Amino acid sequence: MILKSKDVLGLEDMSAEEILGVLEIASRFRAVFDRPVRNVPIMRGRTVVNFFHEPSTRTRISFELAEKRLSADIVNFSAATSSFKKGETLRDTAENLAAMKIDMLVIRHSSPGSARYLARVLDCSVINAGDGAHEHPTQGLLDIMTMRQRLGDLRGKKVTIIGDIAHSRVARSNIWGLTKLGAEVTLCGPPTMVPGSLEKLGVTVECDLRKAVADADVLNVLRIQLERGAGSTFPGNREYHRMYGITEDVVRSLKPEAFIMHPGPMNRDVEIAGEVADGPRQVILDQVANGVAVRMALIYLLSGGDPGALGGGD
Ligand code: CP
Repeated sequence: MILKSKDVLGLEDMSAEEILGVLEIASRFRAVFDRPVRNVPIMRGRTVVNFFHEPSTRTRISFELAEKRLSADIVNFSAATSSFKKGETLRDTAENLAAMKIDMLVIRHSSPGSARYLARVLDCSVINAGDGAHEHPTQGLLDIMTMRQRLGDLRGKKVTIIGDIAHSRVARSNIWGLTKLGAEVTLCGPPTMVPGSLEKLGVTVECDLRKAVADADVLNVLRIQLERGAGSTFPGNREYHRMYGITEDVVRSLKPEAFIMHPGPMNRDVEIAGEVADGPRQVILDQVANGVAVRMALIYLLSGGDPGALGGGD
């Protein structure tokens, strides 16, 4: 059994063995992507509800594609067109969905802890698709998969995470997962965006961008989350870009083999210059492709799929 829990709530909860086990299964699903027929019938008859309370492009569509490729029945639920608008609570809504006999619930919500709360209330599996500034475990897993495809074993590899760390669930899931796999993680951004308290998780904080990226094997560049109030923590977008933006000039200062990641959505010419976002050192769309494979692996494993029944991976 690769996963010990019925739910996937955060990489804080997962061991290094669980993370590597999921990524091994994800690599087998990734190998299916190049086939003319990408669907496998292993979730036929199972129902997954995608329960998104916050906007999403990548995660929502990636989960939906993963579920379709596993041949699951899918229900997409949008808070904007539901009885939330009439004051129904999260718990009542989820219990009503569960009464309709669903097998899995994927939730994105602005409140940290919302996925864990529903996991306690519901018998079905719950997958956290991002809960406020807490965790985004499937993004963490797809980021780690993308790094391992290029760097192999991450022990001793240097990962610099740059940007709005304070508001970032992606940063937290990266920190938990990467440190468990032995990577050396540096956080970089304006002091107002990088809580020093995160050092207790075993990471280094370096607010000087040039120093933070000099030895890095990979840069994971985060979005400035203007919708969560990040705009009040620095003077302006132009100032941020001048001090912390990943420009061509910054890229020229990197190790030759270092590469650049971004979870999306990007603020072009704020945290990352447009030419870097489109340039030869970025692997952003590989991250997106790996996301479908990671989500297929998690759904498969949570629904009791037998890893031995799948063929070899890439
Ligand atoms: N990376 C990510 O979570 O993107 P979305 O908000 O578009 O899902």
